Amino acid sequence: MKAIVCTEYGSPEVMQLKEVEKPTPKENEVLIRVYATTITSGDIRIRKADPFPIRFFYGFIRPKNNTILGADLAGEIEAVGKNVKQFKAGDQVFAGTGTSLGTNAEYICLPEEGAVAIKPSNMTYEEAVTIPFGATSLIFLKDKGKIQSGQNVLIYGASGALGTAAVQLAKSFGAKVTGVCSTVNLDLVKSLGADKVVDYTKDDFTKLSMTYDIVFDTVGKSPFSGCLESLKPNGIYLRAVHMDLSSILRGLWVSMTSSKKVIGGVAVGGKEDLIFLKELIEEGKMKSVIDRLYRLEQAAEAHRYVEQGHKKGSVVITVEHNNKT
Ligand SMILES: NC(=O)c1ccc[n+]([C@@H]2O[C@H](COP(=O)([O-])OP(=O)(O)OC[C@H]3O[C@@H](n4cnc5c(N)ncnc54)[C@H](OP(=O)(O)O)[C@@H]3O)[C@@H](O)[C@H]2O)c1
Repeated sequence: MKAIVCTEYGSPEVMQLKEVEKPTPKENEVLIRVYATTITSGDIRIRKADPFPIRFFYGFIRPKNNTILGADLAGEIEAVGKNVKQFKAGDQVFAGTGTSLGTNAEYICLPEEGAVAIKPSNMTYEEAVTIPFGATSLIFLKDKGKIQSGQNVLIYGASGALGTAAVQLAKSFGAKVTGVCSTVNLDLVKSLGADKVVDYTKDDFTKLSMTYDIVFDTVGKSPFSGCLESLKPNGIYLRAVHMDLSSILRGLWVSMTSSKKVIGGVAVGGKEDLIFLKELIEEGKMKSVIDRLYRLEQAAEAHRYVEQGHKKGSVVITVEHNNKT
């Protein structure tokens, strides 16, 4: 089978389209024929080993075990291991592999108990593949932020992959949502249901005399002090992005000495999260936002685009199959 293999850290050129062995499902695994995968900001970070601690997970000098990047897929189950109960050949699924990666390939085997679920019936493979990454926003808002109906919620970076999911999710929980984005993305963010949009190229939201129950920074560019000042008492500042040591210590200090909280960390969606999102999508409360489509052999080009940091929603890779596997 074909896969994008990355055996060095570095520029997009380190990724190569290669023939690798097609996997065979173990007793508890499903073999998925991948029709769509993504290139995310997470893939860029891993390919570049940025931040440095990525090397402790994936290999100090070079990536060792997880040499096929990609953490989202949508596709069809081709075969199942003999103990698999939840799926059968022909099921259309979507999945996230989190830190295990491996989806930038024609096939992958995943445990049936993993983050695999039947694809939303009203989405194409290309649309459905954007959803697992957005599960991070679900975990931040629902589990870490304990979002409640009627709350004032600000989504910083509302036009990215996490941001477009977060705006829609916060609305679905009944929050009053403010999205912060650039001028070109104002209409997009409004179309996702934001009650108010702030153009960060013209206005500083921290100076607009509004306070929030939750400020969710999905891109790591919000002002730390300004966000804390914009929180109501008991408000929560959520940060999906990597925090350096000084931000972690600052966050801990705020959480210990005031009613406000700063919460970060890694959030990888599981099966239950995917099922939750599938139901939301089928109720018409969430849609996918696709910026660009590429083919598997254009993965390096897609990486270059995503790395610029201006994508709207998701960048999707369509995986074409000929009959030869
Ligand atoms: N904690 C976790 O478990 C977890 C999981 C997944 C991802 N992440 C992290 O989350 C971050 C975001 O990921 P993503 O894929 O959603 O990002 P993304 O899609 O690459 O975000 C790009 C978007 O951010 C906007 N943007 C850029 N600068 C901005 C600014 N100063 N203010 C507001 N918006 C701005 C860009 O539009 P304009 O340039 O036009 O403004 C673009 O639409 C990454 O750092 C990723 O590593 C963390």
